[in-house]
Amino acid sequence: MTGSRLLRIEGLTIHYLTLRGIVRAVEDFSLELGEAEKLALVGESGSGKTTVGMAVAGLLPPPGRIVGGRILFRGVDLTRLSYDEWRSIRGKEISVVFQDPNSSLNPVMKVGDQIAEILEAHGYTRGEARRRAVELLGEVGIPDPETRYHAYPHQLSGGMKQRVAIAIAIALQPSLIIADEPTSALDVTIQARILRLLKDLSEKRKSSLILITHDLGVAADVADRIAVMYAGHLVEVGSTKEIIEEPMHPYTAKLLESIPFVHKTEGRLRAIPGHVPSLINPPSGCRFHPRCPYATEECARLKPRPILVRGRLVACHNPLLGEQA
Ligand SMILES: Nc1ncnc2c1ncn2[C@@H]1O[C@H](COP(=O)(O)OP(=O)(O)O)[C@@H](O)[C@H]1O
Ligand SMILES: [Mg+2]
Repeated sequence: MTGSRLLRIEGLTIHYLTLRGIVRAVEDFSLELGEAEKLALVGESGSGKTTVGMAVAGLLPPPGRIVGGRILFRGVDLTRLSYDEWRSIRGKEISVVFQDPNSSLNPVMKVGDQIAEILEAHGYTRGEARRRAVELLGEVGIPDPETRYHAYPHQLSGGMKQRVAIAIAIALQPSLIIADEPTSALDVTIQARILRLLKDLSEKRKSSLILITHDLGVAADVADRIAVMYAGHLVEVGSTKEIIEEPMHPYTAKLLESIPFVHKTEGRLRAIPGHVPSLINPPSGCRFHPRCPYATEECARLKPRPILVRGRLVACHNPLLGEQA
């Protein structure tokens, strides 16, 4: 973690109560985030990334329940806030950029007015709010913002809509932005530009960023630090360089092998065999053990706790320490 601490998640445990059973989506998850730090939360689909992100943003959907742990934001436990208290934090302190901009934009309202409305609700006069909305549209790289102010979402491309969603997210200068797969719904050619924008904006504004992505390559492009999740457990946290150059958890190593840009050896990319298990009846011990080439009897029996190994947190009974990696 760099700088002073903004967020501290301690032992967070989240269940979804469903008709098929209790989904143990996040278990004993602890993580810290510094002011102005960019962290990526990485793992295959079904790892619990969105669940963690939505819990931090106070947006966990109804079957989800925080059954243990705390989420301290500047020392205040977010898990205990009332609906009204959340209204003074969401948007102003913590805001979210979702995968699909269509879900966050109002289809029947001019995009500029959607930004201005938020500013007005927080004390700007109408004139100031409009001026500021135009500035924000410019800041997120929308060309000719005065004209685009009057566009409706359907008149804009996917990338431009996501820029508007980002403008809304930064309008009230939040200290933390949570971006959940913000480019997964966009054209590949646009993805890099939107990621660059998120990175530049958080650097310029000194806000913190949690980038949720299944793509370790995307994480490496944007984040200072990477936290890797598997099946509801945090498995490894380190600087981006450490994670990419010397993964210690076998799961992180497998994730790395499955992306093109860091794959050192020639030949075809190897997908990780198997898939993330159902979290209604998760595997015992280390949840990765059924897919892990290094699993021992202990791994099936005992859940590894995250411990510091060479300055990095890793939750594994048999971490890779160079010789195998
Ligand atoms: N609304 C929900 N109701 C029931 N189960 C859910 C719900 N949302 C997510 N889950 C389950 O919780 C686990 C974690 O999901 P999620 O947080 O969406 O993972 P990720 O974002 O890493 O893909 C998965 O097993 C998923 O099926
Ligand atoms: Mg998700």
